[in-house]
Amino acid sequence: MNCCVTGLQWGDEGKGKVVDILAEQCDVVVRFAGGANAGHTVIVNNQKFALHLMPSGAVREDTACVIGNGVVFDPEIFLKELEGLEQKGFNFASRLFISENAHVVLSYHKLEDSLRESALGRNKIGTTNRGIGPCYADKIGRSFAVRMADFRRPEQLKSKLKKITDYKNKVFEAVYGAEPIDPEEVYQSCQTYSQKLGKYICNTTKYLHEAIDAGKKVLFEGAQGALLDLDHGTFPFVTSSNASALGMSTGSGIPAGKVDRFLGVVKSYTTRVGSGPFPTEQDNQTGQLIRDKGNEYGTTTGRPRRCGWFDGVAARYAAAIGGINELAVMHLDTLAGMDELKICPSYMLEGEKTNFFPVDAGDLERAECVYETLPGWNEDLSEVKEYEKLPENAKKYIEAIERVTGVRVSMIGTGPRRDQIIYKK
Ligand code: IMP
Repeated sequence: MNCCVTGLQWGDEGKGKVVDILAEQCDVVVRFAGGANAGHTVIVNNQKFALHLMPSGAVREDTACVIGNGVVFDPEIFLKELEGLEQKGFNFASRLFISENAHVVLSYHKLEDSLRESALGRNKIGTTNRGIGPCYADKIGRSFAVRMADFRRPEQLKSKLKKITDYKNKVFEAVYGAEPIDPEEVYQSCQTYSQKLGKYICNTTKYLHEAIDAGKKVLFEGAQGALLDLDHGTFPFVTSSNASALGMSTGSGIPAGKVDRFLGVVKSYTTRVGSGPFPTEQDNQTGQLIRDKGNEYGTTTGRPRRCGWFDGVAARYAAAIGGINELAVMHLDTLAGMDELKICPSYMLEGEKTNFFPVDAGDLERAECVYETLPGWNEDLSEVKEYEKLPENAKKYIEAIERVTGVRVSMIGTGPRRDQIIYKK
């Protein structure tokens, strides 16, 4: 059974842990979108691994790790991650495959990201400053794009980088008054990346089709969440890739028909980092309580996350566009100790009740939440292992999520460790 795991909110739903658990039954784990803007935390034997680009399967010795063509690949960050894992004893010799078609994030992309964000001031997107938008923009623009395959042709790459930096230097200087980038420096860094990573660069689409034909089980690992999807999220406060399950096919070359299980991951509440509308946000004591109990601070940037109630309208929409047929609800333990909990099954928009998520940022800003209130529970859930042993009100809460989203819950997270998970029939 092939499986695709994606977030149904604004990222940080706990996908890393779900992927890590499912990877045990899989042969291959594939990242298909985004880049080092993602942050996946996996805890194994009390050791914490914060991964940005490496698929979460990396911490399982027998699992092949694929970086698909849809990823924007930052070799500088990836090498640090790879070397860090190697120092901890993990070996990647025959199990790491990086797409030759993946686009490369270089120093000037990161510079452009931060220059643009600073210039936007209050109107900034609140990006991770990892060069994601500028790299995807170069991909779409084509003429100034660098792909992993370019590392194989150093002379051509050298002249390409000269052409790119000539152009970017003129723009950066004129628009932002920035210092020029040295093309030789960029080229030298590419030489290092190419020496260290060259052996892993290949046609990952071919690799994946052959793996599936040979009966291997493949797990597709999403980054960010459906509400940050470039086409289907809360534009312009989104990331620059198709972060929903819809990105799986373009980002890997594997059609949806080859995947049986589309698992959507949600937190039992909602969080968001960066700017943009967030209807169920609780910019108050409740939000602070969730932030503290759930340790809601970004893995990549350390920024405090904005916190709020579970948004059923958003999750139902994200499940619909992603063809989601199973849900994992993470961080259920975080909600313990609250007298009442709220879930939002619909919005009021211009005097009318709607159940369908309006992605337009203006509409979403105006949407008023119609809440359903549920009773809370006080019991600590962190060591509960069976669904039946959950407090009645926690079960009622899970059932409310199923009712509002229209999707069955199969996994419930009760803490950061691998074993803190409940399977529900
Ligand atoms: P970018 O992807 O760095 O361009 O940032 C665009 C938006 O996506 C910003 O609001 C970021 O905070 C958000 N974002 C990007 N990656 C993540 C993530 O892994 N988790 C949560 N939000 C993210």
